[in-house]
Amino acid sequence: MKEQNKKKIFPDDFQWGVATSAFQLEGSPYADWATWDPCLSKNPLITDHYNLFREDLKLLKELGVNAYRFSLEWSRIQPRDYIWDEEAIAHYQEVINILRSYHIEPMVTLHHFTHPRWFMERHPWHRTASIEKFLRYTEMMVSTLKGVKYWITFNEPYVILLGGYLEGCTPPGLRDVSRSLVALKNIFTCHGKAYDIIHQYVPDAQVSVAHNMSVFAPWKKWNPFDRVLKKTANYFYNHSIIHAFKTGIFIVKFPFSRPVEIDVPIKDKLDFFGVNYYTRIHLRFNPFKKMGVELRHMDIDGHGLTNLGWEIHPRGLEKVLRYASRLNLPLIITENGIASHDTEEKVKYMKKHVDVVEKCLRDGLDVKGYYYWTLIDNYEWLQGLDARFGLYRVDFATLERTPTYAATYYAYLIQSRSNM
Ligand code: GAL
Repeated sequence: MKEQNKKKIFPDDFQWGVATSAFQLEGSPYADWATWDPCLSKNPLITDHYNLFREDLKLLKELGVNAYRFSLEWSRIQPRDYIWDEEAIAHYQEVINILRSYHIEPMVTLHHFTHPRWFMERHPWHRTASIEKFLRYTEMMVSTLKGVKYWITFNEPYVILLGGYLEGCTPPGLRDVSRSLVALKNIFTCHGKAYDIIHQYVPDAQVSVAHNMSVFAPWKKWNPFDRVLKKTANYFYNHSIIHAFKTGIFIVKFPFSRPVEIDVPIKDKLDFFGVNYYTRIHLRFNPFKKMGVELRHMDIDGHGLTNLGWEIHPRGLEKVLRYASRLNLPLIITENGIASHDTEEKVKYMKKHVDVVEKCLRDGLDVKGYYYWTLIDNYEWLQGLDARFGLYRVDFATLERTPTYAATYYAYLIQSRSNM
């Protein structure tokens, strides 16, 4: 009886997917990241997915997913300004064709953290020309690639800004609040315009960003400073983008100062909302740290920490989905996964999070899909090759792919929880 009830919860068209990004699997000699992280000099092609993609796509069939999120490596497509690589475009078209032949819905990400080197050197996001360059690439892709309905314009726009403009640990490596706000406006402008371009070529398109959402908590509940930080972080990270999509206004709010409002042309430029969810973060006020904030992961509920030290906090997925539901749009979990060598841990993580999705569906939240991050082990930004997010293990010396028990379990989960 219980099993029967479960089956009715996930609709027939629920998207069971996995998510990847091009650079993390295949590298690119033309990308800003190729030289940014020295660890890549030893394995520039990472898993060599660019050549082994046909075999890798077969793994999707093995899993029984009906959707696959992947990104286009802009730097392969446009290695120089004004040079379009026809072969690279044909390569991504072949990926789409294979997916279609497997009855797997492609979801294409236009921008997943990497850029062509020429773009980052001459037109980074805080320069106005970035808009025209990105839109030219967008129009080229959308007018050329056939068979794609689901588009993600930007993966984690806030992470681009935090890494590239506030922490300075990712390209362009700046620590500059005012330029970060210009970059934010330019990226949002690109999203708004790309939304229209995509709909012009694909009238029934479904377009979103994939926004990283986290749960925040005060380091010490009794500490008012930690509580203020939690509120500020939650407002910025989880709420401000929702507000911006609803109103076209992005509000910058720091404690004890007047909010600043920035017009961003993205009001209603969304067909669904893509949520990437991984963890909860505890915050502590510390005047000796950058911006007065110290972040920490603590194993509060006994679910453990991942290989990267992140707290496993499945209930947080419900929290962020409820937050995101304020947009009154369908929600898709565009990424959720765990870095772990321990395949049992992976299975537990996946089950607990899918249980939360099930609860959300029972409670009436409009969740349309769940994409596990990720298909095969890959390069993790600034963390090298040993994070181990994959359902399939990759031996980076031989490039051999081996299924983990988590792959078998995901296939089982999909079968048992859907009506397919
Ligand atoms: C996300 C990002 C992915 C992947 C994942 C795991 O924030 O979009 O590219 O790296 O985190 O850390």
